[in-house]
Amino acid sequence: METNLQRIRTSIEDISRFNSTPGNGCTRFSYSKEDRMAKEYVIDQCLRLGLSVKVDAVGNIRARLEGTEPNQPAIFVGSHIDTVRHGGNFDGVVGVVGAIEAVRTLVENDIRLRCPVEIIIFAEEEGSNCGSTMVGSKAITGKYTVADLHSLKSPSGESCYELAKSFGLNPDQVENHVLESDEVKAMFELHIEQSVVLEREGLPIGIVEAIVGMNTIRIVAEGVPNHAGATPMGMRQDPMAASARLISEIEKIAKCRALPTTVATVGRIDCEPNVPNVIPGRVEFTVDIRDVEGEGIEMATSLIEKHMEDVSREYGLKMWSEPIGTSQSIRLSKAVSGAIEESARELEIPYMRMNSGAVHDAAMLAGMTEVGMIFVPSKNGRSHVPEEFTEYEHIKLGCDILLRAIVKISQM
Ligand code: HGY
Ligand code: MN
Ligand code: MN
Repeated sequence: METNLQRIRTSIEDISRFNSTPGNGCTRFSYSKEDRMAKEYVIDQCLRLGLSVKVDAVGNIRARLEGTEPNQPAIFVGSHIDTVRHGGNFDGVVGVVGAIEAVRTLVENDIRLRCPVEIIIFAEEEGSNCGSTMVGSKAITGKYTVADLHSLKSPSGESCYELAKSFGLNPDQVENHVLESDEVKAMFELHIEQSVVLEREGLPIGIVEAIVGMNTIRIVAEGVPNHAGATPMGMRQDPMAASARLISEIEKIAKCRALPTTVATVGRIDCEPNVPNVIPGRVEFTVDIRDVEGEGIEMATSLIEKHMEDVSREYGLKMWSEPIGTSQSIRLSKAVSGAIEESARELEIPYMRMNSGAVHDAAMLAGMTEVGMIFVPSKNGRSHVPEEFTEYEHIKLGCDILLRAIVKISQM
């Protein structure tokens, strides 16, 4: 019993067409019309397999294949279909297509497992709308309430709640759609590696042992807007200059003063009024801090905030930080990773064990069930960019291991 390369490739290519920036990578924000088309596509594929499908309060899709024994917790398998702006065609989609292909292969071979299998497609994993990653998986695991959905805001000021509501969902119900731990036996996520390790090692498969934690904050600098030409340098309270000073220090803190595994990124910066001949009045930027060691995240965050205070004093302006989102680093399940490793060995597919520098929805379920992740290589280690690519043959190997490991866990 093996999965089908052509179906995998066709599905990934089909989904890549639901894209608001064709010709410049793939952009498919949750709650957009492209997201709606992609959701309809994957729901249609699940319905054709005879699965029962439901969409929850924030847009997570759950498609269920019943098992032979009643009242058994289900094996969950899935990922996300939303993307970053100008992202690639594989991040998240590989795990969704892989989950559907694994279930399709069970159905077409008339194999019914003891326990149910649920395909789960999480909403707003990238946080492209409101800055917080993994909104759907945080919601379904009870980490986000209606209040959180109201407080998460896009740059244009729309809340996650409003985005879900106007998409036709019912975000008020979010707290009634939380997964109970006795519903879940285990969870699998197949995902692209998004770095260079597998390619450098010449291996097609990674078995993930730990996923980094992250802390995303917004730093705001408020100064005095003024004429860019007529204001002498000694009379300025320039939030852009202050932010630039702090941003360059953030790089040094992550490189040299936190842990060797700490990373920090300033990925978004907004400025008002954002015109060339005005000294800005307000600048805000995001800082994405990650580490597989929680201590590294804390060290970097406190060093950055301490330096922010020094810079605000030096520039004579107000600077403060606001929390956007956070998640703990987690170690994945030995039992599930063991089933993945056994499957790779039986299929004679070479692999290595490794950590993930990206966060994943699987991390949100690790607190309530046994979780495992399978990585497939990213060409040149690139991801979150139009150049993102993974060989379809590698994805098929990942799907075959996924399918086999699901069967193994169902027998445990
Ligand atoms: O940012 C991440 O690690 C994930 O791709 N959302
Ligand atoms: Mn992803
Ligand atoms: Mn991503």
